[in-house]
Amino acid sequence: MRDLDEFTVTDEALSQMAGTANPRLKEIGEAAVRHLHAFAREVNLTPEEWLQGIQFMTAVGQACTSLRQEVILLSDVLGLSAVVNALHDKKARELGSQSSLLGPFFREGAPVLPNGAQIVEKPTEEEIVVYGKVADNDGTPVGGALIQIWQTSERGLYDLQERMGESMDMRGNFLTEADGSYHFRTVRPLGYSIPMDGPVGEMVKLQNRHGMRPSHIHCLIGADGYRELVTALYFGDDPNIDSDTVFGVSQSLVVNAHADPASPIPGMRAVHYDFRLAKAAPGESGRVGADPTKLMKAAE
Ligand code: BEZ
Ligand code: FE
Repeated sequence: MRDLDEFTVTDEALSQMAGTANPRLKEIGEAAVRHLHAFAREVNLTPEEWLQGIQFMTAVGQACTSLRQEVILLSDVLGLSAVVNALHDKKARELGSQSSLLGPFFREGAPVLPNGAQIVEKPTEEEIVVYGKVADNDGTPVGGALIQIWQTSERGLYDLQERMGESMDMRGNFLTEADGSYHFRTVRPLGYSIPMDGPVGEMVKLQNRHGMRPSHIHCLIGADGYRELVTALYFGDDPNIDSDTVFGVSQSLVVNAHADPASPIPGMRAVHYDFRLAKAAPGESGRVGADPTKLMKAAE
């Protein structure tokens, strides 16, 4: 038996875990211990700070409900979700359009609407049309692709926040036509603050960050044989376009609504975006994240 200090306890913990049967669990568990111990040594973590950290993580867990996933939010604001997204995309057989975060407001089972439908039940601002084509990387149109759309209202709130999850609004699912085309009507969503009334919001305030996401429309696109694409279109004139709190914006996803002679609804300002889908390796999914309701059910 040897006396343990702040360095040798790391070796000892690793040796106790060495029998982990699952090799991937072993790799992840060992790296987590090495990095956690190194982190505590680097900042010379005090008992008070360690307890504060425990209290924070407890509060993050307790803030989760079937309508709110505070742990994913924590991952998002720390940039971890963006790192996982980027790592996941690097493993793809080929790359399609740039991906972005799924976020905590995706819901399975939104209504399937005909192309051209308005996704906002009672629009109070100018209607715009979003249109384009879905094709593969060779430019071959992908007909029958399912495009799932969700966004905030003109007031910057998702239906889950405005209606406490009681009914769906500002969401709709569309199938592309045989030539890959799609179009739907909406209103420009307002950029919004991530939920700031919980422990993650408190942390973001202490870091002197604004907590905002620039105005965007989420898109989840799937078709047989293609890697599911999770992405979002970001409005370029939003004041926070360069400082997204959750690191989801890429230049290739920035759009603007403008007068467009090619708009499928004449006279209506349009956002034009063509999506590219990558071919999928067998069993491969492009989705990073889940409907939070399902995560809560799985935890029960
Ligand atoms: C969203 O885009 O819906 C979102 C993403 C991460 C955190 C909060 C919201
Ligand atoms: Fe969003």
